[in-house]
Amino acid sequence: MILVTGGAGYIGSHAVLELLLAGHDVLVLDNLCNSSRTALERVEKLAGRPLHFVKGDVRNRPLLNALFAAYPVTAVMHFAGLKAVGESVREPLRYYETNVSGSIALCQAMAEAEIFKLVFSSSATVYGESPVMPITESCPTGIPTNPYGQSKLMAENVLRGLADSDPRWSIGLLRYFNPIGAHDSGLIGEDPNGIPNNLLPYMLQVAVGRRKQLSVFGADYPTPDGTGIRDYIHVVDLVKGHLKALDRLESVKGVSVWNLGTGKGHSVREMIIAFERVIGRPLPHSLQPRRAGDIAQCWSDPSKAWKELGWRAEKDLATMLTDAWRWQSRNPNGYTVETPEPATAA
Ligand code: NAD
Ligand code: WQD
Repeated sequence: MILVTGGAGYIGSHAVLELLLAGHDVLVLDNLCNSSRTALERVEKLAGRPLHFVKGDVRNRPLLNALFAAYPVTAVMHFAGLKAVGESVREPLRYYETNVSGSIALCQAMAEAEIFKLVFSSSATVYGESPVMPITESCPTGIPTNPYGQSKLMAENVLRGLADSDPRWSIGLLRYFNPIGAHDSGLIGEDPNGIPNNLLPYMLQVAVGRRKQLSVFGADYPTPDGTGIRDYIHVVDLVKGHLKALDRLESVKGVSVWNLGTGKGHSVREMIIAFERVIGRPLPHSLQPRRAGDIAQCWSDPSKAWKELGWRAEKDLATMLTDAWRWQSRNPNGYTVETPEPATAA
């Protein structure tokens, strides 16, 4: 059985679906602070088989101990965490506590239960502003400019120290570039709370009329068209990389690092043009000053994952945007189903 922390979230729910389809039994632990039980109900429907769900907090050691005593967990995929960069600047301690202390509590409970296989959701943000492009796993980690990125790097370093202390651990650090898109059923997808930080969910909410226009944060970067370049990867490709990493951890000990990206970069302008092609109409947008903390460009060299995991991203940008649009256009309010107006007396 695989424990998936944060399994009701955007990436976690897609991972749970792939695990179920691959025949794994799955236990999800999620406190639903940024997700909905509905996502898991839809995952079960898509998989055609049930999962186990416990609503709870990854920082809750007694709960983790109870879960490992009650369920035959053999490995953990750890998605549970907070990920909004702007929010992390306003609430750093909450981010360090959730993303770092939460990971520590999980590992302590895993060790007590003698479970030593862990796949950790890390982020390309740990590279900071890399002078080298494309980025390989041997590129040095930088100094992330925000508490969120720092918390990811801190968690990575905790896991390295843990693996150095005990040879029984097999840990995969998966450094995601920019996950976007949704399962092609249109039933599950990204549903951020509040105002989206990220480009794609914001574009989607403009397209469904929830936001007036997209702000393009800076057109004066040292890039071909002046806008920021990122390595966008389909969330389904991303989670398939997790299953490959899980298989690999059966035969390797210690800490392994893999970049999960496509190896291709796209600028904001290119994203807007590609998205307008998908929706068949212009997307209202305006040029704004750069966003504090943003870097000009970032894309991966994913060849290590291909060599060691036999994994590479397969879906192109048009597919990512088409699948994202299918999700958003069919679920304009995400998982929040509009509560019907109370019937008025006839
Ligand atoms: P998400 O917010 O959709 O999912 C995170 C899930 O964790 C949510 O369901 C939330 O309710 C749950 N959670 C949060 N705190 C918890 C706690 N203390 N106990 C239990 N559950 C808790 O985010 P996501 O985009 O699916 O990201 C998943 C992971 O991947 C995160 O660790 C994030 O840092 C990492 N990551 C995301 C991106 C991205 O662009 N989405 C990029 C790199 C890394
Ligand atoms: C992409 C590009 C923006 C929004 C962040 C986190 C990273 C990871 C992924 C968790 C940039 C531009 C964006 C908007 C815009 N998350 N943009 N208007 O900043 O690469 O990475 O999400 O791990 O840690 O840092 O992603 O989608 O926010 O921005 O012009 O409304 O789109 O300037 O060039 P980013 P993003």
